[in-house]
Amino acid sequence: MAKRNLLIAGNWKMHKTPDESAEEALKIASMLGDFDLSNKEVMIAPSFTGLYPTGEALKDTKITLGAQNMYYEEKGAYTGEISASMLKGCGCRYVIIGHSERRQVFNESDELINKKISAAISNSLIPVFCVGETKSERNENKTLNVLDKQIKNGLKGIFVSGSNELVIAYEPVWAIGTGDTATPDQVEEVHKNIRGLIEKIYNKNVAENIKILYGGSVKSGNAAELLSLDNVDGALVGGASLDAKDFTEIIKA
Ligand code: PGA
Repeated sequence: MAKRNLLIAGNWKMHKTPDESAEEALKIASMLGDFDLSNKEVMIAPSFTGLYPTGEALKDTKITLGAQNMYYEEKGAYTGEISASMLKGCGCRYVIIGHSERRQVFNESDELINKKISAAISNSLIPVFCVGETKSERNENKTLNVLDKQIKNGLKGIFVSGSNELVIAYEPVWAIGTGDTATPDQVEEVHKNIRGLIEKIYNKNVAENIKILYGGSVKSGNAAELLSLDNVDGALVGGASLDAKDFTEIIKA
């Protein structure tokens, strides 16, 4: 089977002011120049306050916009929260959901994540649904079981018909921001397993076409090898996406 088109996504976490976000995004666009993006999509996920100016800055470029989180309700008395339609209004195509930092620091449960994925899809936003095991879960050989549970719970009752409605990101918690990347063998084993599970939950067509990204200390030095793996369809990049030069090197890898 031909390689699926790649998605290279930058997760800027809680970095950069609105102006800094728009500036860095433009720098990335200009460094990419006329680099061929026909089989690669580039997405940037700035903080909520950076979304609108960054979306405006990227309007005439091929780079797409994503948010890092959202709430599942459409509107109402939810002080401090942001809805899917607000993200759409800022020009978002994607929304990262269930990042391990949301799960760990903000106690997000599989149930909450499930509601967010469902609301995102209903609003035609593509969720980048993150899953990953901790170091101790890997050491205890629980990786595949943990991911199985996260994915089944996260997608419970959610209907997906095409490959473009959902993206999955495998991000081992122990590899995020640590400089410690999973080995190509570990990544391929997990991604293959996730694809098999998607086939069981949905069907062969969705499984063959869905994008499964890898995230966790991706940098220019390891991106080419990881992205060449059969079941890896892109990368979710944190630290190395903050600098235009580093990120464009990964995109071109
Ligand atoms: P990292 O983060 O690239 O800095 O490891 C990845 C992520 O959290 O998405």
